[in-house]
Amino acid sequence: MSNHDNKSAEAPGIAGGKSPSAPLIETINLYKSYFNEDLETPVLFDINLKIESGEFVAIMGPSGSGKSTLMHILGFLDVTTKGHYHFKGESTEEKVQDDLARIRAENISFVFQSFNLLPRTTVYDNVLLPLLYGTTPVHERRKRTLKAIESVGLADRTMFFSNQLSGGQQQRVAIARALVTEPEVIFADEPTGNLDSASGKHVMEILQNLNKEGHTIILVTHERTTAEHANRIIHIQDGRILTDEKGHTKRIASQVKQLK
Ligand SMILES: Nc1ncnc2c1ncn2[C@@H]1O[C@H](COP(=O)(O)OP(=O)(O)OP(=O)(O)O)[C@@H](O)[C@H]1O
Ligand SMILES: [Mg+2]
Repeated sequence: MSNHDNKSAEAPGIAGGKSPSAPLIETINLYKSYFNEDLETPVLFDINLKIESGEFVAIMGPSGSGKSTLMHILGFLDVTTKGHYHFKGESTEEKVQDDLARIRAENISFVFQSFNLLPRTTVYDNVLLPLLYGTTPVHERRKRTLKAIESVGLADRTMFFSNQLSGGQQQRVAIARALVTEPEVIFADEPTGNLDSASGKHVMEILQNLNKEGHTIILVTHERTTAEHANRIIHIQDGRILTDEKGHTKRIASQVKQLK
């Protein structure tokens, strides 16, 4: 898949495979460029990032800064051009497409700005969909689907068509669909981008609750107010990490306490 240009920066996992103490996500000098015919467009440079299991991280930056590109690489929808990406301590570079698809199916779900639901299809069937590709027994599929719908507060809309719901409700269906496979990580790319502020806040509260239940959440946004729901904010500009604010929420909470 990608070149191995950063020999000096080798980390645990490259040679030895799984490492129990390794971060969930680790990138080492990750570099990404797109090639269109002979034209190379560099997009990400020297991305060195560690994300531990259970974190709620926001990736923030202006339009075109490379947020979605980074999210697609971290979520196995795209590959690096140079540098390394380790997931759960395992190098991803040598893996073939089928392995990457399996790791993605077992560990990762996505929520996008545009919901991406099937129209004229019930909430139930939309949420059930990812389980149809797996090995979950039929009775278990039903249980998990209803539980996911209930957890986003839409039990009373279970048999509605997705196009009979408001935007905020549709995004909650998309979150239920992301949840139903019980993924370790949920990537959300501008999940509130098409929502009014009240629905956006509701969606962010749901993501915060999922994080409290143990899911790692990686949120992409260009809005500070949305990013502040996370407890770590990584700022990207022109394809580079500018700052990495850890313990963000905690710090604000303690400042508020001091002011009282
Ligand atoms: N397939 C592609 N071919 C060439 N360049 C691309 C391709 N996809 C994205 N880019 C370029 O990569 C850069 C980063 O795009 P990306 O979608 O990651 O930005 P973003 O930070 O998510 O922006 P936004 O906030 O607008 O969604 C942009 O300059 C874009 O033009
Ligand atoms: Mg984007």
